[in-house]
Amino acid sequence: MKNYFSIQDIDSLDKWIDEAIEIKKAPLSDKALGVNKTLGLLFFNPSLRTRLSTQKAALNLGMNVIVMNFSNEGWSLEYEDGTVMNQGNSEHIKEAAQVVSQYCDILAIRAFAKLEDRDEDYSEKVVKGFMKYATIPVINMESATGHPLQALADAITITEYKMNDKPNVVLSWAPHPKALPQAVANSFVEMMQQIDANFVITHPVGFELASQITKQVPIEYNQNKAFKNADFIYVKNWSSYTDYGKVSSLEDSWKITEEKMKVTNNAKFMHCLPVRRNVVVDDVVLDSANSIIVEQANNRTFAAQLVLKKILKSEQ
Ligand code: CP
Repeated sequence: MKNYFSIQDIDSLDKWIDEAIEIKKAPLSDKALGVNKTLGLLFFNPSLRTRLSTQKAALNLGMNVIVMNFSNEGWSLEYEDGTVMNQGNSEHIKEAAQVVSQYCDILAIRAFAKLEDRDEDYSEKVVKGFMKYATIPVINMESATGHPLQALADAITITEYKMNDKPNVVLSWAPHPKALPQAVANSFVEMMQQIDANFVITHPVGFELASQITKQVPIEYNQNKAFKNADFIYVKNWSSYTDYGKVSSLEDSWKITEEKMKVTNNAKFMHCLPVRRNVVVDDVVLDSANSIIVEQANNRTFAAQLVLKKILKSEQ
């Protein structure tokens, strides 16, 4: 495998989940695989889980890790070809990607959507730009439109906790005071289309995700109806795709409450984190025995380790 940009780069999700669960049982068993290899992590946006779990995964494989917070420590990058660079940007991605490729064996990048121009965000100019000009494999640590490491961890988590072969899984929109990207939701939807499950998305009218991602996945605009008999409630805010970047004013009525969880089939509660308590979801739900958010975050290490392992093996 050359790059891990999206869920579509997984050849068999079922096999990958099994492999990740095996890694979780013995995380140091491939300690020799990454010796003398360097993973470079470039962050254009903040992170807790992605940064630490990807570093942990690399250390488990014996790799060295170098990290740069690009947004405040790197030169401002130019992405357009043929630009006269007499404005704010100091370095072209062509040189930056090639130079970083000399220092690292694998590069991982986080670059969120700016939520100003949909076409620009969906062109994925940062991560795809690095993929174009880097001479080493590139991993997406959340780009403008996708978060495939999160979705792989989510798939592992659902597999670990499911009580039947075909669980009922709901992706529910929830309120948030800021405009958030669609990346986590997009990759979760793409991942769920490869899993044997009854999957439904629930959100307010106007918050449809891109139809090229949701395809035939059913949408239920009544959140309570969607929650009935659910085995997993996966909660995430995203801003509007059609009215791009818009924040909803429907706030409270979509918050996840204990009352709403009562109509489910004793559902497990999932969220990628970070989560705003008592805005997105009530404390009582987050702190309940059915909340699996911490184990979900734990699985980020094994998702990242599997991706790194596959890239290292393919480079041997
Ligand atoms: N879920 C997730 O990606 O967390 P961080 O933003 O903290 O990395």
